[in-house]
Amino acid sequence: MTAAPLAAFLAELDALRADAAAAFAAVTDSSALEAARVEFVGARGGRLKAIQKLLGGLDVADKPAAGKHFNDAKTAIADLLAAAQARLAGATAADDGGGIDVTLPGDPVPRGHFHPLTQTVRRVQEIMGRLGFESVDGPEVEDQWHNFEALAIPAEHPARDPLDNFYLAVARGSDPLLLRSQTSTVQIRVMEQREPPLRIVSLGRVYRPDTADATHYPMFHQVEGLLVEPGTTMAHLKSVLRLFASSFLGGDVHVRFRPSFFPFTEPSVEVDMEWGGRWVEMGGAGMVDPAVLAAVGYDPDAVTGFAFGLGVERIAARRYGVADIRDFYRNDVRFLRQF
Ligand code: DAH
Repeated sequence: MTAAPLAAFLAELDALRADAAAAFAAVTDSSALEAARVEFVGARGGRLKAIQKLLGGLDVADKPAAGKHFNDAKTAIADLLAAAQARLAGATAADDGGGIDVTLPGDPVPRGHFHPLTQTVRRVQEIMGRLGFESVDGPEVEDQWHNFEALAIPAEHPARDPLDNFYLAVARGSDPLLLRSQTSTVQIRVMEQREPPLRIVSLGRVYRPDTADATHYPMFHQVEGLLVEPGTTMAHLKSVLRLFASSFLGGDVHVRFRPSFFPFTEPSVEVDMEWGGRWVEMGGAGMVDPAVLAAVGYDPDAVTGFAFGLGVERIAARRYGVADIRDFYRNDVRFLRQF
């Protein structure tokens, strides 16, 4: 038997490499890849194996060169197989979502919440809404009429002192405008627009040039309440405040009136609330003064009503046990996160 020529062996090896390159490049799924693997490098019946057997029939002198070519081809085909495997693995990951492992736990997105004062405002609106009080807004830049005049605070009254108010360099006519010092302005605005009966609350910012400390700040919030209905008495006022306080703070809250003075109510009282064994002053209240009713065009002999004004920071601080109202404005998330 004559030895097979080297040239024929090498030609066969080249053909195998070319076929393998084409086959591995063409596979598009794992079963095609496996079929190609078996065809070319299968341990039994693979084409590489078949060619290896031909090595033994070569001329002894040709064997070293033939062996080297065979090993080169074997490595090349192994590389083709690995490349095809890598290509299919990448395609599979891409199909699952761009290389993202969708079975991993997600990154938590922290959920925010409303500022405690905003929560308080909404809660007050909700409770008062249940008692029939509609929530209304008024402007923060006010004129002298709504902030003072119509509320029976005349020009010479100390409450109008420039040192106690933020007057603006802007005037309406000869009247300098100001940042409202109280939400009682909204009583006037609503009564000017509407006829009784009325039940409104207005919550918003007010401004006074106070030095900031644990209980003062140049900007703060008030709840204004106004009820205008025939036959209204101080007993109705107290009942509404007590129902509100019990709902807001929880449990049985006692309300105490102390005689006081406000230009726009007669009689006028300071409102204290007792909760957890401690009395805290929450604001002022009274029966709407006849002069105010006349200022808005109502008949003071025919119309009765009550009004009250409470500090939002005060009721929030009471409810949440906050000792320093400046904490509400520092925007320190370690504080805010607690609510
Ligand atoms: N506006 C008053 C203040 O800022 C609070 C107040 C007292 C409001 C009595 C009222 C009221 O409606 O009747 O100090």
